[in-house]
Amino acid sequence: MDSIIVTGNGPLKGQIPIAGAKNACLTLMPATLLSEEPLTLTNAPRLSDIRTMTELLRSLGAEVTSMQDGKVLSMSSHNIHNHTADYDIVRKMRASILVLGPMLARDGHAVVSLPGGCAIGARPVDLHLKALEAMGAELDLREGYVHAKAPGGLKGGIVDFPFVSVGATENALMAATLAKGTTVLKNAAREPEIVDLARCLRKMGAQIEGEGTSTITIQGVDRLNGATHPVVTDRIELGTYMLAPAICGGEVELLGGRIELLAAFCEKLDAAGINVEQTALGLKVTRGNGRVRAVDVMTEPFPGFPTDLQAQMMALLCTAEGVSVLEEKIFENRFMHAPELMRMGAKIDVHGGTATVTGVERLKGAPVMATDLRASVSLILAGLAAEGETIVNRVYHLDRGYERVEEKLRAVGAKIERISGQ
Ligand code: UD1
Repeated sequence: MDSIIVTGNGPLKGQIPIAGAKNACLTLMPATLLSEEPLTLTNAPRLSDIRTMTELLRSLGAEVTSMQDGKVLSMSSHNIHNHTADYDIVRKMRASILVLGPMLARDGHAVVSLPGGCAIGARPVDLHLKALEAMGAELDLREGYVHAKAPGGLKGGIVDFPFVSVGATENALMAATLAKGTTVLKNAAREPEIVDLARCLRKMGAQIEGEGTSTITIQGVDRLNGATHPVVTDRIELGTYMLAPAICGGEVELLGGRIELLAAFCEKLDAAGINVEQTALGLKVTRGNGRVRAVDVMTEPFPGFPTDLQAQMMALLCTAEGVSVLEEKIFENRFMHAPELMRMGAKIDVHGGTATVTGVERLKGAPVMATDLRASVSLILAGLAAEGETIVNRVYHLDRGYERVEEKLRAVGAKIERISGQ
């Protein structure tokens, strides 16, 4: 298994290009199952999660061609011969459940393995299933699989989510495009990735209104056509790299970045004393001399502070002046990076969903273990700010969500290297 070695750094300077969003691409790819005509995605990120979704779609009979070094994905689902998403693929990636709604909507039947637990909490799929039931799906859970049927096709219905779920909103939105009649999704997720999905579906001929608000209305149509769609910028990759100069000092411009993708996060950086400026090319982040200030953070669905940036923000706050309180409201077990940061000298107290971070002057390099995708990158960020060398082990998580992390950071002056394991 590969490791990453980071050596504590001085100020960073330069530009980092931001890729297309992993989480948008993972829901745009299954949208191909809704149509017999080709769907082409441009600005796709080159990540192992995207390769897993490619493998899953191919196993169902879709053709997926990767072009321009993986930046363009051309997909065609005119020949779906298998309607079972197998456990062996689904267990690798929870987003696999997103093939359920589209397959069921187009062909009236689908069998998808339940994703099971994962490192950051139980993460059930009950809301996905309830939404499809509200559209007339008949579901049967047997031997770890969801067997779904809609013999006469799905029917429009009212789906009132008890709490916000990004994935359940996406599954329901895709399924509703081909359901008979009108579907209303209430308490829908408002994430930019949902807006991106709705825009792509509209290009394919879907009738959708209200994306980006908590009520989305979909008028079902008989069939969808093909389309070409650019994947929206990855706001989590953007926020992660914004934290590199925030931690090390210097000035870095994140190409393609926009404040509206991360307004709540930018407000917290501002409160910590980091300057963020919109430029013609993206976002410029500057940190001057002196320590950053402690800030309190609470994760929330969009437009609140993203849970996917909580670990990285904690890495910054480990060296802030004062005490910061971080509350994790989306996932019940998402502080696994805290003990690893403590190995580097951070002072953190975790009680349930709350972490209290007392800033120290400097972290010290140490061998640490990556426990999940965002935790891995938070340890790299912390390593950039630490004295000496930090070895981040088990970095395979990182490759699920960050393309060429070492190259991107090295280009702005970071001392970072990957050591290949077996
Ligand atoms: C997506 C993102 C993930 C991000 C998360 C929250 C993708 C591929 N992943 O995950 O990076 O951290 O949004 O912003 O887009 N829940 C249920 N039942 C369900 C569905 C969800 O109880 O049927 C719970 C989850 O356990 C969690 C909360 O709802 O506690 C929110 O999860 P959800 O928004 O669905 O996250 P994902 O779509 O899995």
